[in-house]
Amino acid sequence: MILAIETSCDDTCAAIVEPHGRRALSNVVHTQTEHARYGGVVPEVASRAHLERLDGVVQKSLSDAGVSLDEMSRVAVTTRPGLIGALLVGVAAAKGLAYARRLPLVPVNHLEGHVAAAYLTDPGLQPPFVALIASGGHTALYSVDRRMRLLGETLDDAAGEALDKGARMLGLGFPGGPAISRAAHDGDRNRFDFPVGLKSKDNLDFSFSGLKTSLLYKLKSMDGERLRDELPHLAAGYEAAVVEALSRKLLRAVDLHDAPAVVVAGGVAANTLLRRTLEERCGRTGTRLVVPPPELCTDNAAMIGAAAPGTPAVPYPEYLSLNARSV
Ligand code: KG4
Ligand code: ZN
Repeated sequence: MILAIETSCDDTCAAIVEPHGRRALSNVVHTQTEHARYGGVVPEVASRAHLERLDGVVQKSLSDAGVSLDEMSRVAVTTRPGLIGALLVGVAAAKGLAYARRLPLVPVNHLEGHVAAAYLTDPGLQPPFVALIASGGHTALYSVDRRMRLLGETLDDAAGEALDKGARMLGLGFPGGPAISRAAHDGDRNRFDFPVGLKSKDNLDFSFSGLKTSLLYKLKSMDGERLRDELPHLAAGYEAAVVEALSRKLLRAVDLHDAPAVVVAGGVAANTLLRRTLEERCGRTGTRLVVPPPELCTDNAAMIGAAAPGTPAVPYPEYLSLNARSV
């Protein structure tokens, strides 16, 4: 069994995953609430909160799964990318646990973890496939075969970041993605013209800065009353532009790489309009679509455990030399 730990940002996570990485026996996520009053994640606060919580979260992952540390065959931990202080808390804990039990340590890339969430969702899935990761920190397209190859990425904001910033401009709550979806419920997405970034560029990159500027200018020309009336339409148009940019480039990648399957992961994959759009377009081309449930799309440790079988393990006790530079 694999004990997996994830502390790259503001979620303190531990999970127990079966050795083949295709089923999680537990998946514990403690989302830090300490950052709410700052309006964003404060790295120093995140590291301290991980330190306070991680032991309890690991204990709970074991008890939820009904197993003990004796039954673990390896420890997997996110080593990059992420907030350095936050990562170090997880890495230090994982090293300590692995060393005490003489287990190998598996250093997992967080983005490969997001993609591996698909194996927990569809255990029969096999590469090759194309993967879109869209979260608050990342928006990138990969071709996945024996390893992951970057095909394109955002040139400015991540998709989730664009939704969060748009929501703030519209006076909606945080996180912005779900807030915009709620506000867009009865809106007409065609009432306002929002640009779809890099739409006709023959590449697989994304850009959301023009979309943000377009919203800003629309808002500048509206008084409070008009904004209230137009809010659902503005939210619907903005959300649709983000979804169109993501779907368009993902399907272009499928086409270029003749991919039989696509995986969508990261917090933005929880978006209903994105899911519906991709279901429809992939349905038309017969492409297998794997979108994990929302709890596996946002940060969690089960996805880190799922990536472990495909990641080279560092044998006991060689990982003691894994330091901040290798992280
Ligand atoms: O993967 P994640 O939990 O954290 C990282 O950023 O790593 O992603 C969070 C992002 C936020 O920007 C949030 O607004 C967005 O995912 N998000 C959504 C939805 N739920 C979360 N965006 C669109 N629709 C949603 N339902
Ligand atoms: Zn993430």
